[in-house]
Amino acid sequence: MSILKIARMGHPVLAQRADEVANPAAPDIRRLVADMVETMIDANGAGLAAPQVHVPLRVVVFQAPGERTDAGVSEAERFDHTAPLTVLINPVIEIMDAATEGGWEGCLSVPGLRGYVEGPGHIRYRGFDHEGNVVARTAKGFHARVVQHECDHLDGILYPQRMGDMTKFIFESEARHWMKDE
Ligand code: NI
Repeated sequence: MSILKIARMGHPVLAQRADEVANPAAPDIRRLVADMVETMIDANGAGLAAPQVHVPLRVVVFQAPGERTDAGVSEAERFDHTAPLTVLINPVIEIMDAATEGGWEGCLSVPGLRGYVEGPGHIRYRGFDHEGNVVARTAKGFHARVVQHECDHLDGILYPQRMGDMTKFIFESEARHWMKDE
């Protein structure tokens, strides 16, 4: 396994639509997934999409604890890497409820910043894991937020493009000023 270099906002690989994976269980996909998981943990991210490691394929990995508040604004916070790991290949998202929820987001490709994003709070997602098994779940809250953030990467979308209020696009180091308001 290897730790891969993470593409940063402005690299064209982050702005393009990633390609479908022909065979989710192929050995090269298994290797990619292993490297993505190692890279995500090393970088202390909650999730990672293949375009973020310069591979334009529809593959995401994430670790979403069941319950989590908007504590992602804390510099000191460590993501819970004991939370269940999900590998999702060729994902499709369906919105279950038009009601939106807001929360602070960050991205390994947009280092040092946080932004407040409103989005659907209840979704269903479906795809394959790297053994070719179908993955189909519903998700709410932080879980739903992570899935949508990672899948947006596959369509060339970074979270700042989802923001409605750019006054809430801030440096991590200033996040403490906002925590009491949210
Ligand atoms: Ni991201």
